[in-house]
Amino acid sequence: MERVVTGVPGLDPLIEGGIPKGFNVVVIGHPGAGKTILSLQYLYNGALKGENGLYITVDADGDMIRDQGQKLGWDIRKLESEKKIYILEVPLNTRLRINLFGLIESKVKQYGIKRIVFDSLSSFMFNINQFNIQLPNINDLSELSREESSYLEEEVGIRSGSIPEAVQKLRPDPIHYETVSRQRIVYLVFRELSRLNTTNMLVASASAKKIDSTVDGVSEFACDGVISIHNELVGAKRVRTVTISKMRSTNQSPYIHDMELSDKGITIKSADVVYG
Ligand SMILES: Nc1ncnc2c1ncn2[C@@H]1O[C@H](COP(=O)(O)OP(=O)(O)OP(=O)(O)O)[C@@H](O)[C@H]1O
Ligand SMILES: [Mg+2]
Repeated sequence: MERVVTGVPGLDPLIEGGIPKGFNVVVIGHPGAGKTILSLQYLYNGALKGENGLYITVDADGDMIRDQGQKLGWDIRKLESEKKIYILEVPLNTRLRINLFGLIESKVKQYGIKRIVFDSLSSFMFNINQFNIQLPNINDLSELSREESSYLEEEVGIRSGSIPEAVQKLRPDPIHYETVSRQRIVYLVFRELSRLNTTNMLVASASAKKIDSTVDGVSEFACDGVISIHNELVGAKRVRTVTISKMRSTNQSPYIHDMELSDKGITIKSADVVYG
């Protein structure tokens, strides 16, 4: 299995050397945990070694991301001018409905993007009415997707020639788009990103009650991996730790790891395991 090295000191050894190529990894944490910095560090490290990165920002404007990088010694502006990083700022105060995934796909092709950061999935979901989400058009059966054809041929046993009528028969009830759940849209987001063959970090806000769960409640299940950043008060001090809650196909560290955030970015410590 090919792995994508995050380059965040201390993180790769916790996940067998890196994130499996093509995975969607959710970075969960409460406000100020370090989600944006961790994902920017992942993108920056990739761009330095020729794996071009796309940073999609719904939460902040592009200059905040550039300035955050500069503060940590990462020259994002230079990498942008060299076409190694592209920052896609998603406007929220517009009358336009944005076809975000169409836009992402065109940038991925244009810039040869290998790594994507989506910051954040939670704010995208909170602003979902702003976006034009392409759901399958149930009224147009003239052309079937590859997935649909192979499902009908292999699982249902229907020949290609009679597919449109068969689909009609298999699905007699009309679906109302207005009733499509937010959870379904989260699954569609992961599907759309998986099609791009990039390796992705999606930032998500932790739910108020449970640190390892997201506010939308399903992306931690729909994704391939979860990195949780805990930012908790211990005595009189706020302490950051990291756990790998999930990483499919990987023997992941089961421990809680201290995380250091300095003016050089994030470093994750190996666990001080106390036995007995
Ligand atoms: N140079 C630095 N040295 C030490 N800590 C820093 C530095 N720069 C930022 N921080 C810390 O990082 C925090 C912000 O990190 P980041 O923006 O990655 O958080 P986040 O999890 O994305 O938060 P949000 O959910 O609000 O977007 C700040 O609150 C600050 O505590
Ligand atoms: Mg952030």
